[in-house]
Amino acid sequence: MGLAFPRTDDESAGTMSNAPQPLQGMSDLFSPEIEVWQHLEARAREVMTRFDYREVRTPVVEPVEVYTHSLGDTSDIVQKQMYAFETRGGKMVCLRPEGTAGVMRFVAARAQEMQDARLWYLGPMFRAERPQAGRKRQFHQLGVECIGPASPEQDAEVIALQAALFEAWGLGEVNFQLNTRGSSEDFPRILEGLRAALAPQRACLCEDCQRRMDSNVLRVLDCKVEGCKAIVRDLPPITTWMAPESLAYFDKVRSTLDALGVAHTVNPLLVRGLDYYQHTIWEVTSTALGAQDALSGGGRYRMDMGSAVEGVGFGIGMERVILALPESVKAACATGIPPLVVLVSMNDAAREKNLLLAARLRAAGLRVRMDLSGKSMKAQMKAAGRWNAAHVVILGESEVLAGTAQVKNMASGEQKQVPMADVVVLLR
Ligand code: HAM
Repeated sequence: MGLAFPRTDDESAGTMSNAPQPLQGMSDLFSPEIEVWQHLEARAREVMTRFDYREVRTPVVEPVEVYTHSLGDTSDIVQKQMYAFETRGGKMVCLRPEGTAGVMRFVAARAQEMQDARLWYLGPMFRAERPQAGRKRQFHQLGVECIGPASPEQDAEVIALQAALFEAWGLGEVNFQLNTRGSSEDFPRILEGLRAALAPQRACLCEDCQRRMDSNVLRVLDCKVEGCKAIVRDLPPITTWMAPESLAYFDKVRSTLDALGVAHTVNPLLVRGLDYYQHTIWEVTSTALGAQDALSGGGRYRMDMGSAVEGVGFGIGMERVILALPESVKAACATGIPPLVVLVSMNDAAREKNLLLAARLRAAGLRVRMDLSGKSMKAQMKAAGRWNAAHVVILGESEVLAGTAQVKNMASGEQKQVPMADVVVLLR
């Protein structure tokens, strides 16, 4: 088929080549950024192990019902942001827009074994949004799901796990904002109370919120339109319509966080955009971010995946963490890579010797590279500079004959002739 390569319409790609580009809102990840990702992942694994969480990797493509049933038909994700399509076999599938529902599909199929599972995941998620700083169409979430029935102390422990993660990453100042959505029994009362409180001002709300009053009135509370914000500010908090047990549950979450030393504030307007939440919900923001300031969101949830599954968890937007990470931390990530040794060979005999030397150096834990395309010594030296070699080992004709090597320190320019047998010890 004579298909042309797609060209990007993203100016920032900054390339004049005809090579195909990634789709808008999606990025290639490579050095030096990838070293930051590796650092974050390594620290995350340590923290997860300390809290006894196990990694789970579920598919990126899921049956569409896994998401439509659990996130709610009126959620923005289901209505506007899901990449859903029909397979050749006629099945409706979607690229996962978040991790929780897919992981709950996995959990529900192993109900007995997973009744108190502690799970975490890291992987790409997909949402059809208008790309901007901190908002991508393919982004990565690190998520945690703690399976089990409602417990305020469990909610607090999961929030504390998140705080431990941010600390291990060296993220600097973050702000934990908490609220409660109450229990499922509270829910009808909250909706009714909110609708009644908003009714006299209905005409002053934006068009979206007028629609939300009927479909998903909670979302009026986090509308970004100034006129709606002013109206919402004067409403009674949703806790007004909750049972005393729900308020006591939330108080216990807060006092446990205080005891664990996790600073937080209550944001009475926080509601979260997904239908599966009940009781505790939270978001973490960073002033280091711009308009898209949410580093992560989480909460307690309950959903029907053939059987009911419940738990508490959060999802962290990794791209946003990297945006918010102090430059000093990012710079330190690159230093974890050992210095490079490049082996330069004059001729075939030297190259043969260098291949064996490379094997010995690598066995000793060094990072070693050589050009095997048969280029001149001069071209090999130039390549060593391009690769940022710390040391170059040069085998010329006389060195091969004498059983020695020239070892050059690239930073100081200092060069030494040493017996081949001593190269490993010298460089190590
Ligand atoms: P969420 O709030 O939709 O929650 O997403 C969590 C985080 O993912 C956000 O706070 C943000 O950092 C990041 N994120 C979301 N959309 C984008 C985007 N388009 N580009 C870049 N980053 C983005 C959830 O997904 C829930 N599953 C969290 C959860 C887990 N609740 C319970 N367990």
